Amino acid sequence: MTATDDPQLFDDAFWRDPYPALARLRAEEPARPVTTPSGPIWLVTRYNDVRAALADPRLSKDWRFTLPPEERSSAPEHDMPMMIVLDPPDHTRLRKLVSRSFTMRRIAALRPRVEEIAAELLDGLPTRGPVDLMAGYAAPLPVQVICELLGVPAADRHRFAAWSAAMIDDVSAEEAEQARLRLSGYLAELVARKRVEPDGALLSALVEVADEGGDGLSQVELVAMGMLLLIAGHETTTNLIGNALVALLTHPDQLALLREHPGLLPRAAEEFLRFDAPVWNAPLRVAVEDVEYGGVTIPARSLVQLTLGAANRDDGRFPDAASLQVDRDASGHLAFGHGIHFCLGAPLARLEGEVALAALLARFPHLQLAVDPAELVYRRSTLVRGLTALPVRVA
Ligand code: HEM
Repeated sequence: MTATDDPQLFDDAFWRDPYPALARLRAEEPARPVTTPSGPIWLVTRYNDVRAALADPRLSKDWRFTLPPEERSSAPEHDMPMMIVLDPPDHTRLRKLVSRSFTMRRIAALRPRVEEIAAELLDGLPTRGPVDLMAGYAAPLPVQVICELLGVPAADRHRFAAWSAAMIDDVSAEEAEQARLRLSGYLAELVARKRVEPDGALLSALVEVADEGGDGLSQVELVAMGMLLLIAGHETTTNLIGNALVALLTHPDQLALLREHPGLLPRAAEEFLRFDAPVWNAPLRVAVEDVEYGGVTIPARSLVQLTLGAANRDDGRFPDAASLQVDRDASGHLAFGHGIHFCLGAPLARLEGEVALAALLARFPHLQLAVDPAELVYRRSTLVRGLTALPVRVA
């Protein structure tokens, strides 16, 4: 089930540039149900509402709250217990187990390796004719990094890339389920191998925690954690890199400013996250009771979609929000969410984004788009906003 089945809102123009439609929603219908075959999903779009809702315990991740109370207790739990779809206390327990691997210090130590991967990928790009930077750079870089961090063979990438994409794009429920089963089967096999041949990477470390028993990490939670990290590592930072490049290549004054002052890059990276959020909607939540947002009552048991991409363009929070300003203070943007589910991978995503952009801009001083911006094609996904391809000329 997705929120993007509403043909009135989600027409072709929306996918090219959703921001005019999202601005209209913020102004006129800040909490608005969209029609889907399985019932309405409420979109919330104003900055203050989205930020408050992200931290509102009345908005649960437990899908069973969509059911009438009498059916709830007999309904099955989530069959893939990823912490991103769980409420406390399970969410708290799982997050604690994995968060020590994602500290700022540990991630900062990865910088030289990320720089090496970026350089290798740039070495492999053709220097003549149009080059697709999504396929050649923005996609493989984060995949290589997350595979090394987890201890997943990057050579297997062709096997799991399509499954991971199917779980993010708006494909049919059957296709999504198939992809989920294949990916979890693959990870279960990998976990079994790590048990015999531990390698010191994150998945091996989690296997050890799971094998200690107690209430640490069950086997199914272990596979779910691997799946969450692999998908999150695949489908998000790629779009930060791609969206940032489009933003720069269509705003030559901002590109020139950044080239002149490379020290602006960390600040600019926050602006790219704000300006064109790579995850434009937070995963769905359910109202456990009636809640009011934007002056509108969202009834209990409704599904709610918090539109991060719309919130980040709210002029009430970011003056002249539709303009890209690489030197602005974009802190407080909601691209990584807010509250207990705030992105665990944010330090890694920031590091990868900064390294990828710095390396690319330094290598190619004459980078430009190889097509008219109107010809760029975006994925049709309720979750991520990103390009299917980014043709550029590097010389
Ligand atoms: C630019 C890149 C990224 C963006 C924009 C992004 C965005 C987000 C957002 C919006 C959430 C909150 C979801 C919610 O509130 O329901 C989230 C959660 C999460 N992200 Fe990221 N993410 C990025 C990269 C990554 C990376 C590289 C990893 C892992 C290696 C990662 C791992 C996670 C995990 C595990 C959660 C769930 C946290 C929880 O439920 O407590 N993310 N991310």
